[in-house]
Amino acid sequence: MASIIERAPAKINLGLDIQGKREDGYHDLEMVMVSVDLCDYISVSALEEDCIQVASDCPKMPVNAKNDVFKAAQLIKENYQIKSGVSIFLTKKIPVCAGMGGGSSDAAATIRALNQLWDLKMSTAEMIALGMEIGSDVPYCIEAGCSRISGKGEIVQPIDGHFSSWVVLVKPDFGISTRTVFPNVDLENISRVNIDTIVETIEGNDYQAMIAAMGNALEDVSIARKPFIQKIKDKMVSSGADVALMTGSGPSVFALCQSEKQANRVVNSLKGFCKEVYKVRTL
Ligand code: C5P
Repeated sequence: MASIIERAPAKINLGLDIQGKREDGYHDLEMVMVSVDLCDYISVSALEEDCIQVASDCPKMPVNAKNDVFKAAQLIKENYQIKSGVSIFLTKKIPVCAGMGGGSSDAAATIRALNQLWDLKMSTAEMIALGMEIGSDVPYCIEAGCSRISGKGEIVQPIDGHFSSWVVLVKPDFGISTRTVFPNVDLENISRVNIDTIVETIEGNDYQAMIAAMGNALEDVSIARKPFIQKIKDKMVSSGADVALMTGSGPSVFALCQSEKQANRVVNSLKGFCKEVYKVRTL
């Protein structure tokens, strides 16, 4: 049987606000995320044998249950009592431990691909519920696009508006694991971000008001640990970016630019400063 290929785009946070700590140790979040044209690819094909095989072009990728792609396949096999197997190939383009949602997007793409391969007829809501068992950013990645995300990550509402921009993304040569960032958040003193305003400005197609409202409540924690994040932001803004912000829990930083010329200037200013620089567009 032929393979099914699913695209797994990276995301950036236009906004991330922390509402409070939950009893389960997680946090109630409000976020706005948008997908960008920097994508991994998941290719799945059926195996007669009852097993899950994962391979990747990136030698650093685990090919066992430490990989969310494997976890997604395992969960679906158990939930739907699938007795055959699957071979999954992961083509990796999104940097890992970057705050760009690569692992979550790979897991979501695996769910979409296996829904087709095994003709499971899962609804979006069912795929979102399944994704939540893998990680908090997986539900958003099921449909991706431009959405408001609330709760622990399980409430996903597509935003009724089109937001389009050039995006210069930088991944510093260090990673930050999300689970080491949240415990250091001081909820009394975080910089709050007004997510309602970001959503309204996207719906109203008001770019200037949107960039003024953008913010990430995790930035202070990650910048205190890695001041280089602030240096990237400063460089982006001084070379003409409309706005520069850390995405997710970092360490990646993105700049928004309305013109390609402006984006090129930002890319050039980062030469010799950061190795991993991507010029992409929102999807
Ligand atoms: O769900 P996931 O494993 O992706 O989350 C990684 C870490 O992020 C968790 O261990 C937790 O520290 C933090 N987190 C949180 N509240 C959320 C989502 C994630 O505290 N809503």
